[in-house]
Parts: sequence; C-alpha cells; structure tokens
Amino acid sequence: MSFDLEESYLNLVQAGVTGSLLSGRADEPFSRVELSRAGALMRRVRNQFSAEARALKKGKLLLPQEQSLILRGLLLENQVEDVARLIRINSPEALSLLTSDALQNLRLCARQAIWLRVPGDFMECGVWRGGACILLRAVQQAMGVGRRRRTWVVDSFQGLPQPDRLLDAVLHAFLRETGSFCVSQAEVRSHFERFGLLDEGVCFLEGWFSETLPKWQGQLALLRLDGDWYESTLTALENLYDQVSWGGFIIIDDYNPVIGAYAAVNDFRAARGIQDPIQRVNHQVHFWRKLPPG
Ligand SMILES: C[S@@+](CC[C@H](N)C(=O)[O-])C[C@H]1O[C@@H](n2cnc3c(N)ncnc32)[C@H](O)[C@@H]1O
Repeated sequence: MSFDLEESYLNLVQAGVTGSLLSGRADEPFSRVELSRAGALMRRVRNQFSAEARALKKGKLLLPQEQSLILRGLLLENQVEDVARLIRINSPEALSLLTSDALQNLRLCARQAIWLRVPGDFMECGVWRGGACILLRAVQQAMGVGRRRRTWVVDSFQGLPQPDRLLDAVLHAFLRETGSFCVSQAEVRSHFERFGLLDEGVCFLEGWFSETLPKWQGQLALLRLDGDWYESTLTALENLYDQVSWGGFIIIDDYNPVIGAYAAVNDFRAARGIQDPIQRVNHQVHFWRKLPPG
C-alpha cells in the first residue's frame, strides 16, 4: 500500500515537471501559428550560418559524416516540424526537457541508489528549469531519506557557455532562439516551491562548472550530467567522478555522437580505463554504475 502511494506521488511529480498536467498537447498536430513561428526561426538561423550552408552544399566542410548529415538537416532541408517540436517542448509549462523514459529511468536509478544504500547525495550538472532535480528530491523525500541525502542543483543559471564546434553552435542557435536554458536561480527555486520541495536539503551551486566544481567536496550516489557540450561534460567528470561512491550511478543526458558530451565521455573513460558497461535508456540518455575494481 505504501509502495503504491510512493509510486503515485512520483507519477504526479513526473507529470508535473514535464508539463503534461498543464498542457496535455504533446501529440496534437502543429497549428499554423506554431509552424510559421518555427519557419521564421529556421530562416533566421540559416541566415546566420549561410556561409557554412554554402560550403556544406559544395562538400567543402570537413566534418565527420554523422555531423554533416545533421547539419544538412538543420541548415539545408525542410524540417520545420522538428523545429516546431523543439519550441513546443520548450513551452513555459515544462520544467524539464527529459522524455518520459528518461524520467522513469532517473527515478529507477535514484530509488536503486537508496535501496542499495549507496552512500552520498544526488547531483545534476545542467538543470535548466530544474525539473529533473525536483524529481530527484521527490524520490529522496518519498523514500524518507530527505534529511540524510541532499540534492545538488548545479548550473550557471545564465545558460550554456559558447560552444566550440560548428554543429554545437548551430544547435545552440536554435535552442537560444527558443529562449531556453537561461533560467535564474530564483526561478528554479520557485519551481521547487511549487512542488513543496524547497528545503535545506536542496543545495544550489551557481556559476560555470570550471569555477564551482573544483571547489566542491562531498560524496555522490547519483550524478546526472546534462551540460551538452564537450567541455562542460569533461569538466564535470574530471572534478566529480572520484567523489561518486562505488555502486553509484553516472547518467549522461547527451550520449549521442552528434553532441559534444559523447566524445567527452569516451575520452574520459578511455583516459581512466573505465570499463563499466554503459546502458542505453534512449537515443540520447545513457548511464553506467561505478563498480569496484575486480
Ligand atoms: C540542456 S539544459 C539542461 C536540461 C535539464 N537537465 C532538464 O531537465 O531539462 C543544459 C544546462 O546546462 C547548463 N550548462 C551547460 N554548460 C555549463 C557550464 N559549463 N557551466 C554551468 N552551466 C552549464 C546550462 O545553463 C543549461 O541550463
């Protein structure tokens, strides 16, 4: 009975952070207004990258094949529905960009970390509006460990830093135009409050990862990385991996070859000789457990 109550509460929080309680329109066809807004956004971004688009057309851009295919889609082909989807996901109701399978997996990893008594707090680096962290705190409170375990909410609270790769820059232009990723700490705090989950166990670390993370000290049972770019992901891994307990969970939001985070994870694992198997949640989200040697 108590298990059902916990599950129902977490279902409600999950629906709340995705905005589905409020909007309920994720699968509706796009309206003319949405499509025309998406079309205008596409034209603006394409103007900004017109030289790169010309070079791409002539085959003069030297990029890995996977990246040039995506760039083609973004800069040369008509994908107005994809852009409309991006705008819709970014609707004011949604507090997280995570899909429901990713949120379900986050819940499962968080609950397992508690069931298995993996020592430490939970942390997300790259929180945007805070939805995934709200769900993490809800798990801690629902399982009665809110006084013993904290949730760390780590972000610049001023959006992504400038990317260093062309593909990331084009993606960034689309995302920035939809007004995303630049959310103040005060706003994120108000989102926690909305769920009755803002308390002394929710800790905010504000600033660029390269400035805040080297000074952070503590122990983590679950680390979620959602900073998108190569540099952001590598900085977080280099500064936090040793503070993840044995048996702890490392969840990477952007483990997809077109996003910088993928190469950062591979480089870090290769440099440290990490062999723990990576498990797939969806085309983007992956995780592994940090297993003790032997
Ligand atoms: C994709 S959003 C996070 C989405 C969020 N996890 C969710 O549940 O929807 C990426 C976030 O990473 C943050 N970020 C990326 N690189 C950063 C860095 N180097 N330092 C601080 N914040 C960073 C951005 O400010 C942004 O809020």
